[in-house]
Amino acid sequence: MTELQDLVDQAERAFADVDHAAALEDAKARFLGKSGAITALMKELAQLAPDQKRARGAAINLAKQAVEHALQARREALAEAELTSRLTAQAIDVTLDGRGQLGGGIHPVVRSWIRIEEIFRSIGFDVADGPEIEDDWTNFTALNSPQNHPARSMQDTFYVDVNDARGQPLLLRTHTSPMQVRHARAQVRAHAETSPGMSTLADIRVIAPGRTYRVDSDATHSPMFHQFEGLWIGRDVSMADLKGVYTGFLHAFFERDDIKLRFRPSYFPFTEPSAEVDMMFDSGPLRGRWLEISGAGQVHPAVVRNFGLDPEVFIGFAFGSGIERLTMLRYGIGDLRQFYAGDLRFLEQFNPA
Ligand code: DAH
Repeated sequence: MTELQDLVDQAERAFADVDHAAALEDAKARFLGKSGAITALMKELAQLAPDQKRARGAAINLAKQAVEHALQARREALAEAELTSRLTAQAIDVTLDGRGQLGGGIHPVVRSWIRIEEIFRSIGFDVADGPEIEDDWTNFTALNSPQNHPARSMQDTFYVDVNDARGQPLLLRTHTSPMQVRHARAQVRAHAETSPGMSTLADIRVIAPGRTYRVDSDATHSPMFHQFEGLWIGRDVSMADLKGVYTGFLHAFFERDDIKLRFRPSYFPFTEPSAEVDMMFDSGPLRGRWLEISGAGQVHPAVVRNFGLDPEVFIGFAFGSGIERLTMLRYGIGDLRQFYAGDLRFLEQFNPA
């Protein structure tokens, strides 16, 4: 093996030994750099006689070309290896499942809310909506609970730092009952614009579902909760009609007929007489237990007057029921706080995928 071939072999081995581009450039310098082995041979040419110079020069050039060729080949191999390793590291596995999008769902309380609206619409009730920030007069006074009335203490609430036109602070409504006043007054006002008297006023039949607020928090009370108010005012609407309407509602809501109803005498400032409505299932896990579900009564004459109507002519009933309570009974939920804990394991049960 000639000395030049030996040098080419050394270079090839040196290039093969490095495993990244920067090291390859160092190896190159050892052969082709200013003080590299090949360059040194070139410099020695100067001392040779002209006839030797040509042959030796040609041989050195061949060796130099072989080294350059080996260098270039190694460069390309390293570049390719680096590209391959980058591609592997950054690979996207197109066969992996996607992360998916969680679909929204309907909250169980809203599910009930929707059902309640559907059921009452089907028997000719309107559905009304009103403000959650209410004024003191509409939430209390118009409903026959004047300032300092003891019944007010049962409905402590959250106040807003803004006074209404009467100088009373606005408040978060403690029940949906103020919607009786708002809706009835709106009907009466609209009728008055087109008719000379109330004798042609159609019956007022409405439910008003929505959020309500009280300073209350335990397993059966949340500071924010939902009620729906019912009101039917006409000329001969009685407590018997209330019983019929409410029984029909419960049968539709729970999708079963084995439900008994009882009215237990009670007190509300805005009704006289007043009742608590209890219901009982004839079968199932809650069988035989009276369950309190609603307040109700015949609308008090003072309240009918605040509607803008003559209580000697207009009479009817009202009720106010808790939507959480009905939802808990329908689905067998034990703790009301679960509705508002935001736990998907609970909520997903009402929205099967
Ligand atoms: N507003 C009452 C409450 O929140 C419930 C109620 C009772 C509403 C009797 C009524 C009613 O309309 O007639 O406790």
